[in-house]
Amino acid sequence: MTQFNLKNGTALAYRRLQTEDASQLQAFNRDLSKRSRDLFSPHSYSDETVAKIAARSQSDEDRAYIALDGEKIVAYFFLWWYQTSYPILGLGIADEYQGQGLGPQIMARLIEDGKQSGCDAIELTTALDNKRAFGIYEKVGFKCLGQVDNIDGDGRHIPEWHLFYPFKPNVTPTPKNS
Ligand SMILES: CC(C)(COP(=O)(O)OP(=O)(O)OC[C@H]1O[C@@H](n2cnc3c(N)ncnc32)[C@H](O)[C@@H]1OP(=O)(O)O)[C@@H](O)C(=O)NCCC(=O)NCCS
Repeated sequence: MTQFNLKNGTALAYRRLQTEDASQLQAFNRDLSKRSRDLFSPHSYSDETVAKIAARSQSDEDRAYIALDGEKIVAYFFLWWYQTSYPILGLGIADEYQGQGLGPQIMARLIEDGKQSGCDAIELTTALDNKRAFGIYEKVGFKCLGQVDNIDGDGRHIPEWHLFYPFKPNVTPTPKNS
């Protein structure tokens, strides 16, 4: 599986994030609507941070991907700390590409990666009012553990839902702060 198919018939290639994608990744973030950026701000997009994130992807510390329409990044998604027991999942889709069935395909890709890594479970957090994302997470098999106080890429403290997807029986990540 190296491409996703949108409901409108467009095929999007995807691949691992590399250091040379830095400026395109910054453009992806810059072009998000305020609402999307409020929902998906996993880290700062400073040159320094983006270089670190890309290097972590290249060394396989993280599984970070971009989906492309031509040269343009239209989705960014990842399992952080891929080689640990509890990788953290994140995904964001460019506004014009939302509502086309891409989110569930990205989730399937990341769940498959988690399974291959041998981890205990994948964790994620999502804004309390992000009903679309929450619905997808529950549909693909994530379970909600309750609320946590999350710190986003801008340093803001935000209450969010804490969800996890177990690969092994009797696995329950400890809520970080609830
Ligand atoms: C949230 C996000 C990942 C969802 O991906 P998407 O490709 O836009 O998802 P879609 O709108 O195509 O919907 C996928 C499914 O969710 C369902 N859905 C849509 N809106 C919903 C809602 N408000 N409540 C419940 N389910 C909803 C759809 O019906 C669809 O189901 P189907 O495939 O069975 O028809 C994407 O919109 C996004 O990146 N948003 C901004 C950033 C963000 O919120 N990131 C997640 C941070 S945790």
